Order: sequence, then C-alpha cells, then structure tokens
Amino acid sequence: MAPRFPRSAAYDEAWVTANRMGPNVLWLAESLTQRMPLAAGERVLDLGCGKAISSIFLAREFGAEVWATDLWIKPTGNWERIREAGLEGRVHPIHAEAHALPYAEGFFDAIVSLDAYQYFGTDDLYLQEVLRFLRPGGRIGVVCPAFRRELGPDDVPAHLAGVYRQDWHCFHSPAWWRDHWRKTGLVEALHADEPPETDAIWAEFVHHTREEEHPPLLADAAGPRLLGFARVTARKPDGAATA
Ligand SMILES: C[S@@+](CC[C@H](N)C(=O)[O-])C[C@H]1O[C@@H](n2cnc3c(N)ncnc32)[C@H](O)[C@@H]1O
Repeated sequence: MAPRFPRSAAYDEAWVTANRMGPNVLWLAESLTQRMPLAAGERVLDLGCGKAISSIFLAREFGAEVWATDLWIKPTGNWERIREAGLEGRVHPIHAEAHALPYAEGFFDAIVSLDAYQYFGTDDLYLQEVLRFLRPGGRIGVVCPAFRRELGPDDVPAHLAGVYRQDWHCFHSPAWWRDHWRKTGLVEALHADEPPETDAIWAEFVHHTREEEHPPLLADAAGPRLLGFARVTARKPDGAATA
C-alpha cells in the first residue's frame, strides 16, 4: 500500500534516504500536518529535527519559518542542507538540548517533534517545560513510535520474545500520551491517535534500515503488531501564562 503522502512524494528519494535517521520523517511530518496544518510565516520549533529534512519540508510546504533544533546532529551539516535547499533565513539550524532550549518564552506559534519526543517527553514535567516557548493559542504536535497497547511488567509479547529492544521502553500507546498530557491541565483541543498509514510507515522503514535491525521489526510485522505510532496534537489555551 503506497501511503497517501502526496507532498512527500515530490521529494527526491535519494535525498530522504541519505538523511534518514529512522522511519521516513517526511511521512511523519505530512501525517502530523494533516491533523495540525501550519500557516505561512508561522514560527515553528522542530524539536529533535535530526538532519533537518523535516524542517526543510515544513518551510517549503507551508511557508513556515523553522528553528531546526537538535542535540546529536551538529548544526553545520544542517546549515549545508538548508543552504542547498535555498532556505537560508527560513530554516535556522540550532544545536540544543531539549531541557535547555535557547529561545524566548512565548516565541513559537507551533512546536513539532517527529520521532524524537519519546526520548525526553515521557517525563511528567516535560510538557510544562516546552510549552513555555509556545505562545498562548499556539499548537504542539508530536509523532513518535508507539505501542498499540501499554505493556505491563514481564509483559513482552510472545512474538517478540528474544528480539524485544531495551530502547522500546519509552514507547507508549496513543491513549497513554493523551492521558500523559491531559493530566497536566496545560493544553486543550487534545487529540491522540494512530496515523492510518502506520503499518506502511514501518514496512518502508524495514527496506531502509540496517539488516541487524530487522529481527524485531519483522517479528512484530508477522505477529499481532505491537509497534505503531502515536500522533498527538494540542493547543496552549489563549489565556495561558507564557511561562
Ligand atoms: C531517531 S532521531 C530522529 C531525527 C529526526 N526527527 C528524524 O526523524 O529524522 C532522534 C533525534 O532526537 C534528538 N534528541 C534526542 N534526545 C534529545 C534531547 N534531549 N534534546 C534534543 N534533541 C534530542 C536526537 O538528537 C536525534 O536527532
């Protein structure tokens, strides 16, 4: 099944492959913006942007101005990609840790995070931290790898016995993410679901990832499918204090 991502289909596949750090991030960005569109001129934080191709995509497709922010990937390579895309002045490469963001409070109209939020956003206090940088009325949207159900202790499903990965412990169900944000009382218009193209996104990833990463992915695809994605969007209330 070819996923319904017409905007991403216009991008050079070799460029996407060369800058890949996980599942197809243009598909994740397109899936997110199908639920949470951006408007021209909006200031957008792309948190955990990796090689910044999602930032380039959001600037090109929506006319947004994007702060491409990442920890592991240094900004020099991202700047090269931004210049090659002709997006100087529209996409800004920033090296920063998610808990020490160098931005003014209330600066962003939207915050997005694609295949990255699971690394820091499971912390109960993180939403409050990142919302400081969003203006009242601004939107936050995340797409991250997820499980279709929450696992209890000693609950690794039989079809994943022997291949379950330790770093999957940060994966949670869309309902978990919804409750994780809802209990803070800090956001409204909260929506969490699984993108309809989820299985196709994982299947495409298998073709593009190293063979040693295949066993858990293939075992899951052959079994009752635990792996999914969570797409979570919300709005910071109009009357919210900036900090
Ligand atoms: C799997 S990569 C995905 C990158 C990119 N979003 C993509 O999908 O191609 C996860 C990214 O999250 C970023 N990240 C993880 N922990 C972070 C933190 N504490 N602060 C900022 N970025 C972080 C890493 O630097 C990395 O580039």
